[in-house]
Amino acid sequence: MSSTSRASFGSKFGIIMAAAGSAVGLGNIWRFPIETGQNGGAAFILIYIIAIALLGVPLMVAEFFIGRHAHTNAAHAYKKLSSHPFWSNIGFIGVLGGSLILCYYVVVAGWVLKYMFLSLDGTLSTLFTPGDASGYESLFGNFVSSTWSPLVFMVLFVLMCHFAIAAGVRKGIEKLSKIFMPALFVILVVLVGFSLFAPGAQEGLSFLFHPDFSKLTTSSVLSAIAQAFYSLSLCMGCLCTYASYFGKDVNIIKSAVSISVIDTLVAIMAGLIIFPAVFSAGISPQSGPSLAFIALPGAFQQAFGAVPAVAYIVSVLFYALLVLAALTSAISLYEVPTAYIHETWHIRRRYAALVVTAVCLMLGTVCSLSMGVLGDLHIFGKSVFDFLDYFCTTIMMPLSGVFIAIFLGWVVKRDIFMDDVTNGCTLRTTPAAVVHWLLRWVAPVLLFAAFLGVLGVI
Ligand code: TRP
Repeated sequence: MSSTSRASFGSKFGIIMAAAGSAVGLGNIWRFPIETGQNGGAAFILIYIIAIALLGVPLMVAEFFIGRHAHTNAAHAYKKLSSHPFWSNIGFIGVLGGSLILCYYVVVAGWVLKYMFLSLDGTLSTLFTPGDASGYESLFGNFVSSTWSPLVFMVLFVLMCHFAIAAGVRKGIEKLSKIFMPALFVILVVLVGFSLFAPGAQEGLSFLFHPDFSKLTTSSVLSAIAQAFYSLSLCMGCLCTYASYFGKDVNIIKSAVSISVIDTLVAIMAGLIIFPAVFSAGISPQSGPSLAFIALPGAFQQAFGAVPAVAYIVSVLFYALLVLAALTSAISLYEVPTAYIHETWHIRRRYAALVVTAVCLMLGTVCSLSMGVLGDLHIFGKSVFDFLDYFCTTIMMPLSGVFIAIFLGWVVKRDIFMDDVTNGCTLRTTPAAVVHWLLRWVAPVLLFAAFLGVLGVI
């Protein structure tokens, strides 16, 4: 492929929507409320926002810079900035990590798809018994541990991603993001509107907005950093790959700030939908990973039970929202190995996507079955699904983050960074200098400490 015929995004709006589409996903609507619920609410959100500002935005700028500067896939991009064998290969962590995350992400996305159908056909409303979640519990438990049903929905989801990716950067990724992201935003606003009127919504709001610092522990600070990274799609090649399709006139810092703001707003809005409903239904906010699949269906019925049509609409819209969010994120994960294979093996994009689909289906199947028939298959004492999640988000992500920060802060010449990020000195230099300073001094220290914390060393 010559660089002149390389794909690119068509507009600045498309760029923001595609990158925000990558960031806004199950992480915002499923994971963020779980983490907030388990780590004490508002105080956690505050730490999360600080982590986004000090670490998230600078690392996003770093990935955008590397991708746009190198104009190639995430693994090869680092080679263009350094010939040192160590630094030139750190991009591989991203390609590997992005591919692995994809393989279990599609499993949860399949569940979400199934739940959209379950809410559409009314199953979620008929199962409702006030004060008793056992119906939802067994529905979810039986579903995820069964063999075929989760696989069918996973395959459906993977095929949707496959066709979006095969359609190309502009006609697939960009076009879909430009439709899905505004749709997602409209659904969010409607749902927040409904949720704020649930009886007893007040309690949910105070949980979200009144910080109780006594609940903050070292582990909640670590969780906030991990959540910030996961939510912004950092360090796993997605943003670097997308940035390789950016034009030279894109203001990288402004884009990174806009995307981070959109991502954080969506997460908080998801909290605004979920916590008022959860408190209104008298459910503990600490329900954990099952929150979206066991507690919420009942919470919606309970909170809006006075008008069953509203409960039905809220439930359908909520799962549709999750599907849209999951799709644009999974597509960005898909693009990382696709671009890599396409450019390394010089095969057509469509065929590269086929390879990714085949691998994703195989590994995804193992992950899905690890909830059921393969439940006894353990890696380091964890199921395949849990192991992949743990390995990618708590080991690979912070490690890759430390490397990227050191690479940009210390290895790449500051002038190259400054020149590129300010679009050849046509933009103000102060923001770029601040970002560089954060990448050089703050990010490596905080991330290394976080990494040691995760390993239990400090
Ligand atoms: N950020 C997405 C979410 O919030 C998930 C995701 C997409 C991701 N690409 C990633 C997570 C890269 C980590 C790394 O759901």
